[in-house]
Amino acid sequence: MGVQIAPSLLSADFARLADEAAAVAEVADWLHVDVMDNHFVPNLTVGRPVVEALHKATTLPLDCHLMIENPDRWAVGYAEAGAANVTFHAEAAADVVQTARAIRAAGARAGLAVKPATPVDGYFDVLSEFDMLLVMTVEPGFGGQQFLPEMLPKVAKARRFLRDSGLNLWIQVDGGVSLETIEACVEAGADVFVAGTAVYGTDDPARAVEALRSRAGA
Ligand code: DX5
Ligand code: ZN
Repeated sequence: MGVQIAPSLLSADFARLADEAAAVAEVADWLHVDVMDNHFVPNLTVGRPVVEALHKATTLPLDCHLMIENPDRWAVGYAEAGAANVTFHAEAAADVVQTARAIRAAGARAGLAVKPATPVDGYFDVLSEFDMLLVMTVEPGFGGQQFLPEMLPKVAKARRFLRDSGLNLWIQVDGGVSLETIEACVEAGADVFVAGTAVYGTDDPARAVEALRSRAGA
């Protein structure tokens, strides 16, 4: 457990993914891979073959964020492809518990993601099936959007619930995380930080990761 920094490849150069992974390999904890299907979100990125290839090309654990319809059908394939974490959206899943169990049975950690408009309380009773809760701090689909501070009470509420119930999940925030916003996320109770623009939008991604980590107090 503890603070994890996960640079998002969405803001990297898609023609040089292995090099972009290597640029942060010494300093990042995980590498965040955004899988989008042009249905759950209005954008299209990469799928299982690219995750498989990345798994061979980097030593970093792959943190796959599935923004896809029907994760009940597809999520397990990303665990089989070598992802360390497979996070899928609550809004897209028919059976979140079965899907979490399938991911774990395939050897990966399971994450549950909620969009900004989705209240987190409705999922408290299934969190014991998960290793991580992802509270989106922008509308999923694109990098470079503005952080939504109104998501912080959601993070705090989830952290309180986890403390009170003795559950040991990470809380991940994704979207608009930067040197300006990361401290408020820590205060609210988040401990996993995805950053695309704030890492790959700079000319020294490794230094950007270290700066985020130190700003997070870790
Ligand atoms: C957006 C993705 C994020 C994205 C964040 O839907 O889930 O992972 O890369 O990008 P930034 O850090 O630029 O907001
Ligand atoms: Zn993401």
